[in-house]
Amino acid sequence: MNNVYIETYGCQMNVADTEIVLGILKKQGFDVTDKPENADVILLNTCSIRDNAEQRIYGRIGNLKTLKFNKPGLVLGILGCMAERLRKDLVEDKKAVDLVVGPDEYRRLPEYIDVALNGDKGIGVKLSRTETYDDIEPHREDGLSAWISVMRGCDKFCTFCVVPFTRGRERSRSLQSVITELENLSVRGFKDVTLLGQNVNSYLDETSAVGGDFADLLSAAAKVDRTLRIRFSTSHPQDISDKLLYTIAEHPNLCNYIHLPVQSGSNRILELMNRTYTVEHYLNLIEKAKKIIPGVSFSTDIISGFPTETWEDHLATLEVMKQVRYDGAYMFKYSPREGTKAFRMEDDVPENVKSKRLQEIIDLQQTISFEKNQAMIGKEEIILVEGFSKKSNEFIAGRTDTNKVVIVPITSAIKTGDYIKVKINKATSGTLFGDYLENINDEKEGIALTA
Ligand code: SAH
Ligand code: SF4
Ligand code: F3S
Repeated sequence: MNNVYIETYGCQMNVADTEIVLGILKKQGFDVTDKPENADVILLNTCSIRDNAEQRIYGRIGNLKTLKFNKPGLVLGILGCMAERLRKDLVEDKKAVDLVVGPDEYRRLPEYIDVALNGDKGIGVKLSRTETYDDIEPHREDGLSAWISVMRGCDKFCTFCVVPFTRGRERSRSLQSVITELENLSVRGFKDVTLLGQNVNSYLDETSAVGGDFADLLSAAAKVDRTLRIRFSTSHPQDISDKLLYTIAEHPNLCNYIHLPVQSGSNRILELMNRTYTVEHYLNLIEKAKKIIPGVSFSTDIISGFPTETWEDHLATLEVMKQVRYDGAYMFKYSPREGTKAFRMEDDVPENVKSKRLQEIIDLQQTISFEKNQAMIGKEEIILVEGFSKKSNEFIAGRTDTNKVVIVPITSAIKTGDYIKVKINKATSGTLFGDYLENINDEKEGIALTA
């Protein structure tokens, strides 16, 4: 029996893929270990989004290869986006790597592992137009939160981004298979499920005679279990429909939280990025969503220092942030990726300027988050209790439907998995603190998961 150890890097899609990989391997009789020293096969599920993501993996390959001195038959494999991007260059450049398998070839991973265990290099990097792993049961530990990939790939081709190259074309799972998976998670006691895709708004169930877009999927998902919170990520600002916004508003257990990456506040840069919307369109969408979904909150992604970005473009980004007042943001320095369109543009914003602009973006977001959290003091919120807080066993940590963490002193009335009503009494830029008011577990149908 072979023991496999896997580490996951990158986005939530990779986290979900690791569960698919483990589902496939366990079915083939592999055992899973959480210690690399005990493994016969070590897998790294990798990310290529920025250069530093790849450098981290090279560092990790360097550490892990020392294990091969004691165990020469040990197989070291690279899965995920780096496998797809670098293909056989990876085994040629890094002698320690025995296996390179991209995101659409996991079904055949056991075969490639056999090849590598027999001393050859196992390489599988074909992309597919149809693979969705619809029928694979992902291997999940018990818990409260889970991720379900509802679609794969991306057809947007933003000029900075490797994802369309590493993940291939867009394709969706059937609505029914997603709902069945959700039903199973509900039976197992999961309470918080995120539906994943690089652009979930392109979701389309082509197998169903009645159609089925993302709003239909969300609406069906919300009905599976009213005590199960449903989140989703990521939405492209071009494709959010009114139907989707009304669907979110209609179902209390669809979280009032939209991750809506803006990337830049400058129309000139947005065009160079091929984002296909303008700042005006984006801000209109935000306003519309705020009207249709009372209390909705937003997070975003921002890239600083895209080629030709001027000081004015940068100020425009700060301006959008001030207008939207995001609850959270993921903020990055532009990193040129070979093979993308932007790679052919000169990476002309100097490193120190990129850093300075990024720091201003981070500082502004910090201020906005702090002010928004301060404004929540005195308000009542419903949180899902996730367990002890990181810092102390005398407090529990829970999450609001807008994805904010709240810390509350423990009482005997509270257990993990409960929904409780709390009153916020203190706030920093990253965390809220509150007092316990009451449990709301007994209600069944149509449980109000927002205060
Ligand atoms: N599909 C998602 C994003 C996936 S990648 C979407 O469209 O929103 C997550 C984020 O990484 C992107 O939103 C972008 O902000 C950032 N990113 C992607 N490529 C990058 C690059 N070359 N340099 C810096 N940041 C990048
Ligand atoms: Fe990348 Fe753009 Fe696709 Fe997002 S939408 S994955 S940023 S190409
Ligand atoms: Fe990274 Fe691939 Fe996700 S490049 S961000 S792991 S889709």
